[in-house]
Amino acid sequence: MKSMKAVRIHNYGGREALAYEDAPMPEIGKDEVLVRVAASSVNPFDWAARSGYMTDYYPYTFPLTLGLDVSGVIESVGTSSNGFRTGDAVYGRANPATNGAYAEYISLPISQIAHKPNNINHQLAASVPHVATSAWRAVVDVGGIMAGQTVLIHGAAGGVGTYAVQLAKAHGAHVIGTASANHVDYVRSLGADEVIDHNATRFENVVHDVDMVLDLVGDMGDSTQSRSWQVIKPGGMLASLVQFPSPATAAEHGVRGAFVSADVCDTPLLTEIGRLIDAGQLHPSVSSVHPLTDVRRAHEQSEGRHVRGKIVLGVADL
Ligand SMILES: NC(=O)c1ccc[n+]([C@@H]2O[C@H](COP(=O)([O-])OP(=O)(O)OC[C@H]3O[C@@H](n4cnc5c(N)ncnc54)[C@H](OP(=O)(O)O)[C@@H]3O)[C@@H](O)[C@H]2O)c1
Repeated sequence: MKSMKAVRIHNYGGREALAYEDAPMPEIGKDEVLVRVAASSVNPFDWAARSGYMTDYYPYTFPLTLGLDVSGVIESVGTSSNGFRTGDAVYGRANPATNGAYAEYISLPISQIAHKPNNINHQLAASVPHVATSAWRAVVDVGGIMAGQTVLIHGAAGGVGTYAVQLAKAHGAHVIGTASANHVDYVRSLGADEVIDHNATRFENVVHDVDMVLDLVGDMGDSTQSRSWQVIKPGGMLASLVQFPSPATAAEHGVRGAFVSADVCDTPLLTEIGRLIDAGQLHPSVSSVHPLTDVRRAHEQSEGRHVRGKIVLGVADL
């Protein structure tokens, strides 16, 4: 059996559970492609899965290769190719229920990939899929943000926030972001009209009557969700990717609450996001790149909860 290098876990645990080791080469089904991985990236989902927090949704079997995001080159295609060919540069997201992209090769459903945006390299492209499609779900599909509306985005400097700010701005909203002091200029550079240093200012003292709060932090981060209800205008919305908003509290405030699940990361959406990147209308952001062998340090940084943009894992120079 052919083997490759991968980062796997053999049980749930801390960062010490991450093992860089030999693993079998993936096999592809008829609707899949085998991708030689150039880069992956770290999402909070990865260390939540590693720690065993996702077992209610994904009852994993071991050993398990982590990693959702991938950019790379197609090595081989199954029987239905949907226009993808060997040698094509592609990016996409692994099925969260299966083996992931912290590896030299991955098999991916053709429905979950798109051609890599031309104007960015693989490391930037690997930073995009999960967070950009999550932001799209929240801002465009669930929020339906329109010109003239005001949006407060908590966690604006992070992976999802980076795209949420840009997308909300592109849809004509007045965007207010929260971030720590050393990320204020960064969030402004994404297009935010106002940025609140969440360590220095209680946002509820300075923000009122917004159409939508996008919560990327939750109550674990200084009761951020609970403090948000009071800043929303009647008929507005609190959308969270982190914590289910209480329907009773939403009703008390005369607003809607929605949990956003990043369940769409398919070829059409990845293609549209890639088009916006190539047109210079969306900008990916990477704060550090680590080799796969340094994955424990990459997880440590992500678990610190103050990442700017994305942490990338470089796998091969393709
Ligand atoms: N439901 C879904 O399907 C789904 C999909 C994607 C992500 N998520 C979740 O969404 C959350 C955000 O994901 P991500 O990838 O953007 O995470 P991330 O890249 O780790 O970013 C988190 C950001 O939160 C900011 N932050 C920390 N405490 C804060 C506070 N009290 N107020 C305001 N900002 C604060 C940090 O910036 P500063 O240093 O500037 O504070 C950091 O940039 C995670 O919990 C993730 O698991 C859920």
